[in-house]
Amino acid sequence: MPDASHALVRDIKEARPDHPVLSVIAQRWSPRSFADRPVEPEKLRQVLEAARWAPSSFNEQPWRFLIATKDDPEAYAQMLSVLNEKNQQWARQAPVLILSVAKTTFSRNDKPNRHAWHDVGLAMGNLLAQATALDLFVHQMAGLDPEKAREVYAIPEDFEVVAGAAIGYLGAPDDLPESFQKSETKARSRRALTQTVFEGTWGETAPLVDDEDHA
Ligand SMILES: Cc1cc2nc3c(=O)[nH]c(=O)nc-3n(C[C@H](O)[C@H](O)[C@H](O)COP(=O)(O)O)c2cc1C
Repeated sequence: MPDASHALVRDIKEARPDHPVLSVIAQRWSPRSFADRPVEPEKLRQVLEAARWAPSSFNEQPWRFLIATKDDPEAYAQMLSVLNEKNQQWARQAPVLILSVAKTTFSRNDKPNRHAWHDVGLAMGNLLAQATALDLFVHQMAGLDPEKAREVYAIPEDFEVVAGAAIGYLGAPDDLPESFQKSETKARSRRALTQTVFEGTWGETAPLVDDEDHA
């Protein structure tokens, strides 16, 4: 993709926040087009290291990751096969695939860890921020077959597959199957804070974020 159109897509996709946020938050989005370029192993280690330092309930660190890169075509095909067909259509462009997995019980007492998935999400949040800082892009996927993953990777019973993710450098929208191209250049949007942050009673906008209160 020529640099100019790359810059254009980045501009369209960048968040337009109502209040200033870190650039790694504003500049992250989930592309479906990835460049045909491998990710340096040191960068992959850095994004996984960022995930490692996430906080977690009782410091359980319930996250685990399975990873496959195109350097090992067999391992890559195996992970791709766990994704649903629609995700496979675009994710096959990405040089790296991962699966996040949660340990659903505490190691200290075998009791259920109600926050396991929450904490895997925090680890992924760290991974996303680090990836963005390294000019890498990540697209997460719920569309996969967790039971197939359990079988393929012999995942033990007290672990559950949470999500898949494709990782790589940004690619050109034109390289995607047509049905995916439009969303590649569509501006991102979010529900307003006024509909998200409540105070006192459910559904009552907190004055802190009420537009009229701080206009
Ligand atoms: C847990 C999770 C599961 C997702 N599953 C899919 C998926 O299966 N296929 C897909 O194309 N996008 C998937 N997405 C991407 C979301 O659709 C995307 O993050 C959302 O539309 C917001 O867009 P943005 O990440 O570009 O800001 C998933 C995202 C998350 C966090």
